[in-house]
Amino acid sequence: MRSFIGRDILSLRDFSRDEFFRMFQVADDLRPFARDRRNTDLLKHKTLLTAFYQPSTRTRLSHEAAMHRLGGHVLGFSDSKMTRAGDFYQESIKDTFHMLEYYADVIAIRHFQQGAPHEAAKWASVPVINCGDGWGEHPTQVLTDLYTILHEKGTLDGLTYLLVGDMRMRTMHSILYALSQFDAKAIVVGPPDMSLLPEFKAEIDALNVDYEEAGDVRDVIDQADIIYMEPVVQADYTASREERGSQVGLTPPEYCVTRELLRDKARRSSIILHSLPRMDELLPDVDGTRHQRYWAEAFNGVALKMGMLALVLGAAE
Ligand code: CP
Repeated sequence: MRSFIGRDILSLRDFSRDEFFRMFQVADDLRPFARDRRNTDLLKHKTLLTAFYQPSTRTRLSHEAAMHRLGGHVLGFSDSKMTRAGDFYQESIKDTFHMLEYYADVIAIRHFQQGAPHEAAKWASVPVINCGDGWGEHPTQVLTDLYTILHEKGTLDGLTYLLVGDMRMRTMHSILYALSQFDAKAIVVGPPDMSLLPEFKAEIDALNVDYEEAGDVRDVIDQADIIYMEPVVQADYTASREERGSQVGLTPPEYCVTRELLRDKARRSSIILHSLPRMDELLPDVDGTRHQRYWAEAFNGVALKMGMLALVLGAAE
C-alpha cells in the first residue's frame, strides 16, 4: 500500500481497497475525540488552509472542525471574490497556489472548474485535497459516505447501491470509481439529460464496475441496500455561484424517495445517504424513518477528515 504522507487526495479513481480501509481505521482511532467533543494535540504544529471558490456548508466546515479537533490551525477563504482570484486580476491557480503553499501544511480546495485541484497540486508542494471540482469529483464526500456505510452495515461488500439523481454530479463519479474496489452492484437512476457520460462509462467499464441503468426509482428500490441520493433540481456546479431564481422546478417522481415508497417497497434494512443540500427529492418526513442516515454522515465527516488529515500530515502511518 502506498503511503499517505504528503499525498494529494484528488480522486478516488486511484484509491486501492487497502487504502480505503486504512483511512477508515485511522478515522476510527480518532473518532472518540469527535464523539466526546474533545480536542487532541496530534497536529498542533500543522496548519490547514481552505481555499473555497464555491459555496459550501459541510465540506469546508467539517475539514476545519477536524483540524481543530486535532489541535491544528486553520486559515483560508470561503469567497474568492474577496481574493485576487475573484477580482479584477483573476489571479491564476498557478500564482495563487504557488503562494498558498507557504502559508499552510495542507490545502483543501473547492473549485468550479473540473481539474482545478489537480492544477493546484502541481504548484503546491504540500498535500492538496479536492473538496469538489466542477462536475469532476468529490472524494472527501464519498470517503465519508463509505465510512458511514461501513459503520452502518459492517461491510462494503455484497451490497447493492441505488444511485439516484444527476449522474453528472461529482459525488456520482467518485462513488462509481470507489465501487470498483468492492463486491458491489450499482443501479443508476437519473434523468436522460443528466445521465452518465459515454467517456465516464468507458472509464468505469475499464475498472469492471458492475452497474446498470434504470428509469424509475420505484421499479428498483426493492433491490437496494444503500439508497444514495443527489438532487436533479440543483445549481450549475461549473459556476462559481448560482442564486436561486423565483421559479424552482419540481423533481419528477421517478427520482424521488418518499416515506410511502420506503414503507411499501424498500428493504427494511436499506439506508439512505444524501450528501446534502437537498431539494424536494427527499422530503423531511423521511428524516424520522428507520432508513435515514444522512445526519450520521455529518458526524462521520468530521471523524473521516481527522483520519485523512492525520495520514497526509504524517501523524498516523
Ligand atoms: N456535501 C457537500 O458537499 O455539502 P457542501 O456543499 O455544503 O459542502
